[in-house]
Amino acid sequence: MGSGFFFSPGLSLKFVSGGRNLRIGSVGAKDQGRISEGLTRMSPESIRNRFLGSKSGFTPTELKELTELDGNTHYAIGVEDIEADRGVAVIRLARSREDSEQAEVAITVIDGYQKLGLGTVLLSLLILAASERGLARLSFTFLPTNEGIQKLVRKFGPPELGQSSRETQQWVLTLGQVNLVSLKARLATFLPEIGRFHLET
Ligand SMILES: CC(C)(COP(=O)(O)OP(=O)(O)OC[C@H]1O[C@@H](n2cnc3c(N)ncnc32)[C@H](O)[C@@H]1OP(=O)(O)O)[C@@H](O)C(=O)NCCC(=O)NCCS
Repeated sequence: MGSGFFFSPGLSLKFVSGGRNLRIGSVGAKDQGRISEGLTRMSPESIRNRFLGSKSGFTPTELKELTELDGNTHYAIGVEDIEADRGVAVIRLARSREDSEQAEVAITVIDGYQKLGLGTVLLSLLILAASERGLARLSFTFLPTNEGIQKLVRKFGPPELGQSSRETQQWVLTLGQVNLVSLKARLATFLPEIGRFHLET
């Protein structure tokens, strides 16, 4: 795989999930409106799980941080519903300043599109993108009551406990334990076009 080429701007994949036509691609400055609008369609519980508290909107600075990404230390993959013409999911990584081989992951699947396998597809793709970027570990910070993220992360291997407090927990997933070949094979059955997007070994 070419370094940093994974889902570069302009490359995208179409697929069907839950009877909906969806498109996956990298997130960029063009997506500010979709990110803002997406927040308005999240339930209070999903907002709390994603932002570890309440959130009613993004400041211009936050929107820039969420969408103006260098593709290496900050990178995000988004999903849009083609017919509805709106964003429905996003997963992002931010490389740690203290440890350049580790990145923190945040994921949102909008209510109504959850439990359809989108989180699994997005985390699979992000793991491949992270490994392409030389990352060795991904961390996830979540509320202890958030069962969805715990189930999702465990699908990729047993996580180690990272920094945790009474309010939040952090898990660290070591990428070396993930079988990337079988990950790609599983993705290829779900996203038949995957072979065209530099996911070959
Ligand atoms: C957590 C989240 C990303 C999961 O996304 P998703 O698209 O529903 O995930 P999938 O459909 O791929 O499901 C993955 C597994 O988790 C399970 N799961 C998903 N949501 C669940 C929930 N709320 N409770 C229990 N299990 C759940 C699924 O059943 C599936 O398990 P299986 O493969 O054994 O059937 C999504 O619920 C979400 O965006 N939540 C709000 C934001 C958030 O919590 N972000 C994480 C913190 S950064």
